[in-house]
Amino acid sequence: MNSNLKGKHFLTCQDWTKEELDVVFETSFDLKDKFRKEISTRYLPDKTLFMIFFEQSTRTRNSMEAGMTQLGGHAHDLTEDKMQLSHGESAKDTAIILSRMGHGIASRNCFYGIGRQYLKEMAKYSSRPVMSLQDDVYHPFQGLADLMTIFEYFGKNVNGLKVTISWAYADTHSKPLSVPQTQILLFPRYGIDVTVAYPKEFPLSKEIVEQASRNAQVGGGRLNFTNDMDEAFEGAQIVIPKNWGGFGYYDVNDFLKNEAECKLEMKSSLEKYKNWICDDRRIHLADKNVRLMHALPADRGHEVTDKILDNPEISIVYDEAENRLHTAKAVMSLTM
Ligand code: CP
Repeated sequence: MNSNLKGKHFLTCQDWTKEELDVVFETSFDLKDKFRKEISTRYLPDKTLFMIFFEQSTRTRNSMEAGMTQLGGHAHDLTEDKMQLSHGESAKDTAIILSRMGHGIASRNCFYGIGRQYLKEMAKYSSRPVMSLQDDVYHPFQGLADLMTIFEYFGKNVNGLKVTISWAYADTHSKPLSVPQTQILLFPRYGIDVTVAYPKEFPLSKEIVEQASRNAQVGGGRLNFTNDMDEAFEGAQIVIPKNWGGFGYYDVNDFLKNEAECKLEMKSSLEKYKNWICDDRRIHLADKNVRLMHALPADRGHEVTDKILDNPEISIVYDEAENRLHTAKAVMSLTM
């Protein structure tokens, strides 16, 4: 595929202009259409992508690996324990070597205060494009799939669309800030009005909120914050109830110095907000045609009830998950 984006890293949507992102969306829709019609899209024949996962993944791993196969190439599914990374080999050496053997590197590293820096280090030394499969700050592939799904349901002109991103209770693990942060940065660039609701101990990162406000000014969207989940649901056309850890409450260096203590404090704050759930009562506060989105995996019965998540009149989470494949293929075929 001929593309001006060949060789460009994809670490955050923020590094890509709106025009570049529009090319990605156009390509994603075309790839989705061809996937449905079983038209071959072997745009990356014989090319190799190295994927390094420091954490678990279902959607990201499989959208990238299936995507590479469908584009005619191959993806290596690597984890830290399979590599000399587990004996301390540096991001620099790993990136230099893998980029000499293949055509792209992709990695997920969500450790707070570490992941983003790790990916930047790889990108600095790789001679091939480096893609973030999620870090502690950004989840760019998720943002693309989210916006593609919004375009499918609401059309390409999403000016003034009311989207609520709400913190919700979950007891599985402290999830990164990267999904809501990517959404608040990206959606207002397209004129979307975003409301973020969170308990006071679970803010997003200050720098990201400031950047998102600047994006909103340029893109024409609005960005509002509240500590009241009910208020955020009122009139919303899309609701995204999603847990995230209380990392943004701490200075990152303080967090790294006192990690065990901060995590205990986060756990204790979490238990105060078990009623932050997307349920029947709250969904009725939203617009009558409201849609539910979620990056998945969802913490069923905590973040959102089964009844809402499984209601096809409301929930579009499976389309959103499928669009991870089409957007992943678009970015890979344009950059590799
Ligand atoms: N939404 C998402 O990134 O899912 P995985 O963690 O399964 O990749």
